[in-house]
Amino acid sequence: MSALLEVDGLSVQLPVAGEFRTVLQDVSFSLEAGQTLGLVGESGSGKSMTVRSIARLLPPGARTTGSIRFDGASVLDLRGDALRKFRSRDVSMIFQDPRAHTNPVRKIGDFLTEAMRINGKVPPREAERRAVELLAEVGIHDGERRLKQFPHELSGGLLQRVMIAASLAVKPRLILADEPTTALDVTTQSEVMAILARLQREYGMAMLFITHDLELAAAVCDRTVVMYAGAMVEHQDSSRLHTDPLHPYSAALMQARPEIDRRVPRLPAIPGHPTSAFEAPDGCAFAPRCRFAEDACRAALPPLESMGDAAYSRCRRAAELRGHLLATAEHSGGLGDGAGVGDSAGLEEEVAR
Ligand SMILES: Nc1ncnc2c1ncn2[C@@H]1O[C@H](COP(=O)(O)OP(=O)(O)O)[C@@H](O)[C@H]1O
Ligand SMILES: [Mg+2]
Repeated sequence: MSALLEVDGLSVQLPVAGEFRTVLQDVSFSLEAGQTLGLVGESGSGKSMTVRSIARLLPPGARTTGSIRFDGASVLDLRGDALRKFRSRDVSMIFQDPRAHTNPVRKIGDFLTEAMRINGKVPPREAERRAVELLAEVGIHDGERRLKQFPHELSGGLLQRVMIAASLAVKPRLILADEPTTALDVTTQSEVMAILARLQREYGMAMLFITHDLELAAAVCDRTVVMYAGAMVEHQDSSRLHTDPLHPYSAALMQARPEIDRRVPRLPAIPGHPTSAFEAPDGCAFAPRCRFAEDACRAALPPLESMGDAAYSRCRRAAELRGHLLATAEHSGGLGDGAGVGDSAGLEEEVAR
């Protein structure tokens, strides 16, 4: 059986000031019906470009190579009605900032019922009744009142629920959720996440869930892809990624997250800055920030290699460092504070033993 979504060797270049810049290189993954895949990485790593490629929403002039197949059909070759159907029925996008994707002068009710009235030719009263039901599904129980309100009358969390309700209206087979909780406060974030996860399960939809928060991805996704500078650096089961990361970047992301029960005097930051694909140096793009980097890492970009058990890493030293990436960072007190390239002495000792 083939997967619902198959992305194979996807590379994207965008025109900037007369030249093409690489923003994605050789991205490959697949997603089965009903499964959830996390896409994690710092800002600029290519997460949004990946989902925009899938939804065929890349900026004008983009050059795409590789293939994207949805239910066996080539997404990059869809045109006209087939493309419209794919975008309006098969996939649904949920964005980071719901306010930017609603019209401030249109009521919530119009927003929610529009697609039903136009695409489904549902009579207005019936569309309204369905909208109230959809709102109840996302935990909004005073739907009749909400339908008459404008976006600015709703909090960010409520508005994001409305967006989720709107995307459910068409019962898509794939949800592309691009940092749907990043703009929300922590409590609202977990409520929205819980709703999204429950609906995804109940409706049996596949979901591509984008976040810069590796632990959030691990909590909701079956598998996780970690991206850096437009390329995948790791891909494996979320639960194992959490305990057994295979790339120093994944381990660093994990350690850069605040945890209530981890008492560290300062939050360890990943030293240096994230790089975009077009600015990336030769060799491993993460090498300048990696405390395990050696000369060979800077010489050539390592391939994404299988580590067994459907786990993949793009680190040359993955096998040697396996099992030590998290442990040593704790021994040495984190990954440094941004002042230098950190201290790898702890690991060197452990690996030498
Ligand atoms: N319209 C655009 N034109 C040119 N480059 C862009 C455009 N949008 C984004 N980029 C670049 O593409 C890279 C990937 O961006 P993006 O996918 O948005 O990252 P992420 O979602 O992981 O934060 C970044 O280097 C960004 O600067
Ligand atoms: Mg983004």
